[in-house]
Amino acid sequence: MKLNWAERWVVNNPLRVLEQRLEIRRLKGLKPLPVDAAVLEVGCGRGAGAALLLQEFPLARVYAMDLDVRMVRQAQGYLASRREERVRLFVGDAFRLPLNPESLDAVFGFGVLHHVVDWRTALAEIARVLKPGGVYYIEELYPALYRNFLTRRLLLHPAEDRFFSHDLRRALSQADLPLQSALEVKSLGILGMAVKGGGTAGSVPLRRKRQLGAEPADDGNQG
Ligand SMILES: C[S@@+](CC[C@H](N)C(=O)[O-])C[C@H]1O[C@@H](n2cnc3c(N)ncnc32)[C@H](O)[C@@H]1O
Repeated sequence: MKLNWAERWVVNNPLRVLEQRLEIRRLKGLKPLPVDAAVLEVGCGRGAGAALLLQEFPLARVYAMDLDVRMVRQAQGYLASRREERVRLFVGDAFRLPLNPESLDAVFGFGVLHHVVDWRTALAEIARVLKPGGVYYIEELYPALYRNFLTRRLLLHPAEDRFFSHDLRRALSQADLPLQSALEVKSLGILGMAVKGGGTAGSVPLRRKRQLGAEPADDGNQG
C-alpha cells in the first residue's frame, strides 16, 4: 500500500536518514556481509537507505524497488545527485520480485512489510531470491505504533491480517527465514536479521539489550 502525505513527510525527513544510518550500523554489527555482495532493498522510498547501504557495506550492487513510481523517481534524483551508479532502481511489488531465485546475498526492508497486504507472500518471495545462508535485515513496526487511536487517523495502512511479534517470528520461520537476532520493543517494533535456512533463533547475543529495552530473539515467544 502506498504512503499518504503524512507518512511521506515522515520518511522524507533528514531525521529518518539519521535513524536509518544508526540502524544499518546496528544491523552490520549483527551480521556483516561478504565483499562485493549483491543486495535488494524492498520499499526503498526516496533512496536514502540504498545510499546508506553502499556507504556501510562493501556492496557490488544494490537493487532497490518500490511500489510507488513517485518514490522511485525521487530515489533516481537522490542517487543521481550523489553520483551513485551501483543502484538499479525499479517499480514493483514485494510479492512478485523480478529477480532470479537464490541470486542475492541479502535483502533489506525498512518499514515496508507492515504496508504490504499479503506480507506472508512477500516473505516467501524474499526467501526465494536469497541465496542459502543469505540474510534478511528487517526493521518493522507493530500495530500499536501505526494503528493506534492517533496514527490510524493520520496514516494509511492495511487493516486486515496485521502482524505482531509472534506472528512475524512464526511467518519468518515458515518462510525458512528464522530470526537469528533482534533488538525489539515487543509491542512497538523490531530491528533484526533472519538467515535463509538458518539455525535456531537467539544465537547472537545482543550487547546493551537491557539499556535499550530490547530482548534477544526467541522462538515463538508471544508478544
Ligand atoms: C514507510 S515507507 C519506508 C520507505 C523507506 N524504506 C524508509 O525507510 O524510509 C514504506 C515504503 O514501502 C513502499 N511499499 C508499500 N507497499 C509495497 C509493496 N507491496 N512493494 C514494494 N514497496 C511497497 C511504499 O511505497 C513506501 O515507499
